[in-house]
Formats: sequence, structure tokens, C-alpha cells
Amino acid sequence: MAMQEPATRPANPRFSSGPCAKPPTFELNKLADAALGRSHRAAIGKAKLKAAIEGTREVLGIPADYRIGIVPASDTGAVEMALWSLLGARGVEMLAWESFGKGWVTDVVKQLKLDAVVREAEYGQLPDLSAVDFANDVVFTWNGTTSGVRVPNGDWIPADREGLTICDATSAAFAMDLPWDKLDVTTFSWQKVLGGEAAHGMLILSPRAVERLESYTPAWPLPKIFRLTKGGKLIEGIFSGATINTPSMLCVEDYLFALDWARSVGGLQGLIARADANARAVWDFCDTRDWIDNLAEDPATRSNTSVCLKFTDPAIADPAAFSKAVVKRLDDLGVAYDIGAYRDAPAGLRIWCGGTVETSDVEALMPWIEWAYQAELEAQKQAA
Ligand SMILES: Cc1ncc(COP(=O)(O)O)c(C=O)c1O
Repeated sequence: MAMQEPATRPANPRFSSGPCAKPPTFELNKLADAALGRSHRAAIGKAKLKAAIEGTREVLGIPADYRIGIVPASDTGAVEMALWSLLGARGVEMLAWESFGKGWVTDVVKQLKLDAVVREAEYGQLPDLSAVDFANDVVFTWNGTTSGVRVPNGDWIPADREGLTICDATSAAFAMDLPWDKLDVTTFSWQKVLGGEAAHGMLILSPRAVERLESYTPAWPLPKIFRLTKGGKLIEGIFSGATINTPSMLCVEDYLFALDWARSVGGLQGLIARADANARAVWDFCDTRDWIDNLAEDPATRSNTSVCLKFTDPAIADPAAFSKAVVKRLDDLGVAYDIGAYRDAPAGLRIWCGGTVETSDVEALMPWIEWAYQAELEAQKQAA
């Protein structure tokens, strides 16, 4: 028998894993102070860029001696700059357990042609972190957005490592504690946890990463858009708001708004608590159902932002078609947008739980997932 539609809908149906939901207090008119039509190199533009950098430092608790730069091409741009500028000086280990991490492996092995040690794991799992040799430079993703698997903490990274750690933290920053002393390069995009706009990347460098930049020149050419040094010295301007090329001052204003909102909910700890509560609402729902489960196998590695789920009911004939149909049903009704698993990931759902999403909306979504699951099972029966 078909279940009745739940009575309550999520007030905001946006559960996309990027661009993510805007902060709940967002309205376009909140960006009215944007320095539009002005040079980003004028005092007003530079001040806003600097405020974006220092606001990032303050909210994320980044040490004073770390450089923070706004760079082109979103998180991808920031990661690529780091890979192309830093690697090749010593051995490299690549850790990958989902689509984005695997993309960085391709870049390093096929494009830079480095003979890297590649440690990969299937969706739902982590590679063996205890096997990593930190005499090498180590590249990894803090939270695998497409599998919903994150590293549990930074304890596996030694403080006295010889190599650098290069961490894609785009779906982790502002939702998880990042141990800055264990991270030499950290990247993220505004479009993720704070619900900002895409196209701008953040590149955070430890003093050791800067030392590498100033003492090592890669064998390959670097386009202007990647260049962080000039004459063997760090281009310090990049880290005070003199961006490599022209940023969008509208996006900058939007990021400043998002940082203000982050402060208003208690800063980093407030954001982490919001993401934890959202993810908990999904986990609790799954724990009390025998037809849906986390893709992450070890609860200690479950993401609190990109929560990935799989249908486990053996009655489901074609999990990919079934998941798609569930997603479409909820999308058509305006109950939930963009909750399908990533295109390269196993079939299922992915529900963004970062801090800009309200827990009441996640809670309201859960009965709808049950309803859509039941409705699809029924449809499958009718079609058989
Ligand atoms: C882990 C990870 N890395 C990189 C990216 C690419 O980010 P962007 O499109 O902001 O460059 C994403 C986007 O979802 C991601 O989740």
C-alpha cells in the first residue's frame, strides 16, 4: 500500500553539495555594499579582499604565520597551483578514495608524469593511512565529497614530517576541525560549506610550503595564473589581497556576508555543531531503517557535510534507476533538489549537511525519502 505524503516539507529544498545552500539569512540586497564597477586594486577593493583573507584566518583559526591567498579557478585552481608549483622536489604519495582525489592522481601521474605512490580505496573506504611515508609529499582530500568518507582526524600525520602535506579541504573547511600544524597546503572554495559563490579558490600555505616555493623551481613551465613566486621569492601581494588576476567583487562581498553569518552562529565551532546536527539527523534515520545505509563503512569516517547513502533493500532490481527515480520524484515535487549521488559514485543519494542547511529541513526531508522509496518500490512492482 502506498504511503501517504508526509505533512511537512523542508522550508528550503536546497541540499546540493556545491554550490551549497546560501546562509539562511541571505538576500541579494545584503550585497548592496559590493565595490562594483571599481578596480579591485583601488583602496576599497583591496580592503575588501584583505577582509576576506583576514576573516578566513579569524573564523578558521589559521595561524598568523600561514599565508592565505585568493586565487583563480575555485578549489580546482588552488589545488592545481599547489601541485604544479610544489611537487617534484621529493617523492610523492597520492591518497584517493573518490572522484576528486582520483582526479588529482591523474594530474600528478599523467600530466606531471611523476612516479608517485598511489594509495587508492573503494567508495566507502579509506586507504591505509598508517602505510603513508611522510618523507614524501602527500596529497589527499580531507573529505571525499563524492563518497561521504573523511579522514577522522590528523593523528596519522606526524608533526616532524619531512615532506609536505597538500590537502584539498573544500568540503571540510568550516565544518570540520582542521589541524593547521599538520597541513602545509590547504585549499577550499567559497561555494561549499559557507554557501558562497564559485570561481574563487583559497590557498593556505604553511611556512614550510613557502620555504619549498622559495627554494625549488619545477622542471616544467608554469602559466601566469599558477605563479606564486617571482625571482625565487614568494609574491607576498597575493596573500594580502593583490590577486593574480581580476576577482569578482560581487563574489567577494558575498563571501564577506557569509563570514559574518558564520560569526553570528558561533564561528567555526557553531558551524561544526550545525553540520554535526544535520548529519546526525540523517544517520539516526538510516540507523532505524534496514533499507538505506551510509556509503561510509566505518562510522568514524562518516562525513558531516556530504552524507552519501545507498539503498540496501534486496528487492530493488536496478539500484541506479531506482535511486534516480527517487531523486526525480522529490525534485519534481520541490521537496529536495540535487540529492542524487555524484555521477562517478555508486548509485544512491547525497544530502548536503553543511552549516548553511537548517536541521529542521534535514529532519523534514527524511520522511519524504521514506515516502519516495515506498512509492518507487510500488512502481517497480506495478511495472513487473
Ligand atoms: C573534494 C573536491 N575537490 C574539488 C572540487 C572542485 O571544486 P571547484 O569546482 O570549486 O573547483 C570539489 C567540488 O565538489 C570537491 O568536492
